[in-house]
Amino acid sequence: RPLHFVTLLGSLRHGSYNAAIARALPELAPAGVTLSPLGSVGDFPLYDADVQAEGFPAPVLAMADQIRAADGVIVVTPEYNYSIPGGLKNAIDWLSRVSPPPFAGKPLAIQTASPGALGGARAQYHLRQTCVFLDALVLNKPEVMVGQVASKVDAETLTLTDASTREFIAGQLKVFAEFARRAARPAA
Ligand code: FNR
Repeated sequence: RPLHFVTLLGSLRHGSYNAAIARALPELAPAGVTLSPLGSVGDFPLYDADVQAEGFPAPVLAMADQIRAADGVIVVTPEYNYSIPGGLKNAIDWLSRVSPPPFAGKPLAIQTASPGALGGARAQYHLRQTCVFLDALVLNKPEVMVGQVASKVDAETLTLTDASTREFIAGQLKVFAEFARRAARPAA
């Protein structure tokens, strides 16, 4: 069965390394897997229950629909101050209030990248904690944490060029596709 994954990006900046990784994913995915980017978390207002009471903003509802329709979500994000960026958390907070809950039972994989050595490892564990309440099915391993990312992305074209990183990410996508297929199988 073919699978469709959506990617959620935690960075808003044009030259984002994480965006370069997200753009590479369709080429790195195994046969039978297609990917498309979700809208920008920058299109969401700051979460406010009073705004919610007047009706969910259209970008929130649109993204919730796209997530519900997808076979899995891949979050690609930088680490900010040892956690996930506020914009990404804000988007997750909005999406967590929508009914039916888009992340519940949804396969989810995490990829982080940083110019530093740890590749955003600490943000991954904060995101995993948030995913407990969302009831997302988070892939444990392989963990994609791309350290020293500035040396792995071509500065001119903003393309992920490092061969071993590409291979490692392709490996995660293969495992994630199997994981999503298992998750979708009805219980016997
Ligand atoms: C950072 N950066 C960073 N890096 C890291 O490895 N751990 C961290 O805790 C932080 N904290 C942090 C906070 C803030 C507010 C900023 C702006 C940056 C550096 C970050 O990894 C770097 O700017 C990346 O290039 C951001 O990802 P994109 O935008 O290139 O995808």
